[in-house]
Amino acid sequence: CGIVGYIGNQDTKEILLKGLEKLEYRGYDSAGIAVKNDSGVHVFKEKGRIADLRSIVDEAVVGNTGIGHTRWATHGVPSKVNAHPHKSASGRFTIVHNGVIENYSFLKKEFLHNIDLKSETDTEVIVQIVEKFVNEGMDTEEAFRKTLTVLKGSYALALLDEENDQTIFVAKNKSPLLVGLGEGFNVVASDAMAMIQVTDQYVELMDKEVVIVTKDEVTIQNLDGEVITRAPYTAEIDASDIEKGTYPHYMLKEIDEQPLVMRKIVQAYQNESNDLTIDPSIVGALNEADRIYIIACGTSYHAGLVGKQFIEKMAKIPVEVHVASEFSYNMPLLSENPLFVFISQSGETADSRSVLVQIKEQGYKALTITNVPGSTLSREANYTLLLHAGPEIAVASTKAYTAQIAVLAILANVTGRSKGIEMEFDLVQDLGIVANAMEVLCDKKEEMEEVARQFLSTTRNCFFIGRAVDFYVGLEGALKLKEISYIQAEGFAGGELKHGTIALIEEGTPVVALATQESVNLSIRGNVKEVVARGANPCIISMKGLEEEDDSFVIPEVNELLTPLISVVPLQLLAYYAALHRDCDVDKPRNLAKSVTVE
Ligand code: G6P
Repeated sequence: CGIVGYIGNQDTKEILLKGLEKLEYRGYDSAGIAVKNDSGVHVFKEKGRIADLRSIVDEAVVGNTGIGHTRWATHGVPSKVNAHPHKSASGRFTIVHNGVIENYSFLKKEFLHNIDLKSETDTEVIVQIVEKFVNEGMDTEEAFRKTLTVLKGSYALALLDEENDQTIFVAKNKSPLLVGLGEGFNVVASDAMAMIQVTDQYVELMDKEVVIVTKDEVTIQNLDGEVITRAPYTAEIDASDIEKGTYPHYMLKEIDEQPLVMRKIVQAYQNESNDLTIDPSIVGALNEADRIYIIACGTSYHAGLVGKQFIEKMAKIPVEVHVASEFSYNMPLLSENPLFVFISQSGETADSRSVLVQIKEQGYKALTITNVPGSTLSREANYTLLLHAGPEIAVASTKAYTAQIAVLAILANVTGRSKGIEMEFDLVQDLGIVANAMEVLCDKKEEMEEVARQFLSTTRNCFFIGRAVDFYVGLEGALKLKEISYIQAEGFAGGELKHGTIALIEEGTPVVALATQESVNLSIRGNVKEVVARGANPCIISMKGLEEEDDSFVIPEVNELLTPLISVVPLQLLAYYAALHRDCDVDKPRNLAKSVTVE
């Protein structure tokens, strides 16, 4: 979910709606705004996208203070009733919330047994408790503060009080939240991008801080009421990067940007003599570690699997790759001297952040590899490496995945060389070859569209197989396909399919096989024969030099280590065209959010 708030002299509706549009990547199943003026707090909310909300907002309602929310459902189905903002029983208080209140059933029983809740959300409990405390005699600020002390879980909150038109009450724990500063106005936002059209000056908030925001002042306090001073920073976001241009979808634009991103990354990590370079303190941290733990979710996890190969092969440091949500509740036995590497496009994923908080408490160091400078994971880690991919808007990640892999390759290469390990290739040159190969692939969209039509236009399911690094790319290919086309897709190690999953192969089941690795080329082709013998319809994507007559698609030859950077491109296009043929919403698939800021 994402939240925004504005307090100043202008009408707030358009500012809030524009802000929410920028936050739609955090969820888009329902949305709402609350506008405050002399006649009270007016709430507009609707199931669906911001565009749906926009269509029901009453233009005649004008107010200079407001809050807004775009939702990714956790407690309660996506519906108008469950959409935020939520009001207290008397209607005096109005709240928006990003996060999950874990003890909400307890709170309901403890504080609200005689109150009829309107929604199924955990959020409504918060606003009702504030009102209860006010009814017991506290002033709003006191009641808000007291409420925070009984909440367990994560929250970014903005609260309006009908009887106090000068203030937005704000608080944060675990969920990201910023306060933006303007001349005669101030704003609140989950992400600077939401309010970049009105200000580029932001103050970051820390967990368990409370902020009293008026149009001329921002007062940050801790839960004990002590005032905290913190200097603002300038958010550097180029608003034009967020436009779709002539592309029908962001996803296609972002797939096409990959060659450029590769070149940008090489430039960004080169020194004056054109050698690849990484901040020595980061290389030092890797070299001091006896084991590296890569922590990530979704596509970033898949990039981590490829990164493990790089770090182990080029820098000779053992690596484990973990899904963040599992790691935080089921921590493995750690080595003596671990280094944690967080991979996250957004730098905001709550599951990853939760691990970061835990390992920092244990005194370990962390490096974040992210696309978003100043993001939570970047700010809270000891070191950051940036992806330089530009804003990624489509929910299905494409250019951030290849950027993560390229940055991991550079990190592994520079670290290896710092230890005197000889590299048999020139990574700068090889990444240049990759960029050119990506360009060739991006020009073959029609071919991929045809492959998608042939294999995927009517199928219910699809399997991806590969060996070695092709297995990891297959996992990503399957994720892309299921995310946006809703075809049930699974990636398997070529040799593993026969140990169970082969039972699912029926006449005509599409099996996409990757063959980019010479060492396993014969064995993966053997696995293809096994599924064909059981009726599968094989779609083989091979690398030049390893191709055979019936292969569906041949990708240009690149350094064998770097094949994930290009073998993924046809899989991205395959998913894109499959989704298009099935009339799916490519950029905003159902049930998903680009950045999941709840655990
Ligand atoms: C969400 C997105 C995925 C993404 C994952 C991790 O689930 O839908 O596409 O891979 O989060 O996001 P991150 O920003 O941490 O890379």
